Amino acid sequence: MVERSRWLSALRAALKRSRVTALVGPRQAGKTTLARQIVPENSPAYFDLEDPRGLARLAEPMMALGPLRGIVVIDEIQRRPDLFPVLRVLADRRPIPARFLILGSATPDLLKPCSETLAGRLETIELTGFALDELGAPAMRRLWRRGGFPPAYLARSEHASYVWRRQFMQTYLERDLPQLGITVPSATMLRFWTMLAHYHGGVWNAAEAARSLGVSEPTARRYLDLLSGLFMVRQLQPWHENLKKRQVKAPKVYLRDSGLLHALLGLAGERELLSHPKAGASWEGYAIEQAVALVRPEAAYFWATHTGAELDLLLIKRGQRYGVEVKFQDAPRLTPSMRTAISDLRLRHLTVLYPGDRQYELGRRVTVVPLTELARDPEVIARVGRAPRVRAGAGPRERVDSHSIRRHPARRRGMKHPEAHR
Ligand SMILES: Nc1ncnc2c1ncn2[C@@H]1O[C@H](COP(=O)(O)OP(=O)(O)OP(=O)(O)O)[C@@H](O)[C@H]1O
Ligand SMILES: [Mg+2]
Repeated sequence: MVERSRWLSALRAALKRSRVTALVGPRQAGKTTLARQIVPENSPAYFDLEDPRGLARLAEPMMALGPLRGIVVIDEIQRRPDLFPVLRVLADRRPIPARFLILGSATPDLLKPCSETLAGRLETIELTGFALDELGAPAMRRLWRRGGFPPAYLARSEHASYVWRRQFMQTYLERDLPQLGITVPSATMLRFWTMLAHYHGGVWNAAEAARSLGVSEPTARRYLDLLSGLFMVRQLQPWHENLKKRQVKAPKVYLRDSGLLHALLGLAGERELLSHPKAGASWEGYAIEQAVALVRPEAAYFWATHTGAELDLLLIKRGQRYGVEVKFQDAPRLTPSMRTAISDLRLRHLTVLYPGDRQYELGRRVTVVPLTELARDPEVIARVGRAPRVRAGAGPRERVDSHSIRRHPARRRGMKHPEAHR
């Protein structure tokens, strides 16, 4: 069993704060497993609506839920949307006798009409599959190949993992989507999903997508929003800076789980993956997903101009702008595009994530960081004007610089370091 302490503590904190906490996320991400660590499955306060007995116990919800104290779990809540008004009444009791943890596979958007009922009482936590910080540095490549769904990551062999992922998508399209009330034929959705796999990391082109699927543009858009709402796709929105430059205005699309991406592309093992033209884009999407999961920014964008400057990720954290470039290379170097991004976007810092294992500076505000280091210390991205690590053989000037940065009085008082304005 993989420990998910970051999630458990987030969940416990939310349950203390809010009267209703929704733990949402894709199927098989581990929602039920996590909830059972808070309230055991055999407790009278645990209701699994996938189980007919659980449903039967909630035939009279007010009578069943009313007397319970402490934390009450309702798993697969999307099967009984009529429970939301009941929860509202129960959540409004004073003093609060019970708090509710509800689990569901659909997103807040898909459940919107229901969650509106609970406005002001509901806090949502979005669970994802395993991330690198939960598994440790040695897991980096395996997590990339197989993706983060626990059964895919933990499968006995590479082949078993691949088979699980193919099966998962098939069940998902044929059984789960119809259960969520989504009426798109599964064959159409599979074609769309596969098409997105080929677009992975590219800018969304509605006209092209619509043409190749034989549907209208709004329909293609609706499918895209659907898969995003189900946590399968990330649409990274474009950042627009007030510049005299034309900038890209459409979102970029990524399949969020690299394992599902590989399954859609038919890449069963590392050899096929590394020789595939999408290998670089796949690693880029993987690193972006990890960065967003670990850094937990307030917002994330990409940026691109029509003249070729671009930034893979612009993260807003505590109101500051941080850049992330992803390079699937042995030893990334400073590029003109990085310089442009730093000055045009006024980045506090630019981190270049790569698969290697050595951290090094590329310039005053650019650091190359191993993806595994980010997992160990997500703040590495947001640490500004920090002392560069003194490398073996680094010149004396660099040491003096780093020393003076660390000791700078303005920085000690938590003010902006003058360097940040340069
Ligand atoms: N932390 C973990 N360590 C090991 N295996 C796990 C972990 N979390 C989940 N799993 C395994 O992954 C599978 C899916 O987990 P779980 O049923 O909790 O997910 P879920 O999000 O509730 O899925 P569903 O939406 O289908 O109900 C199970 O086989 C479970 O044993
Ligand atoms: Mg479950």
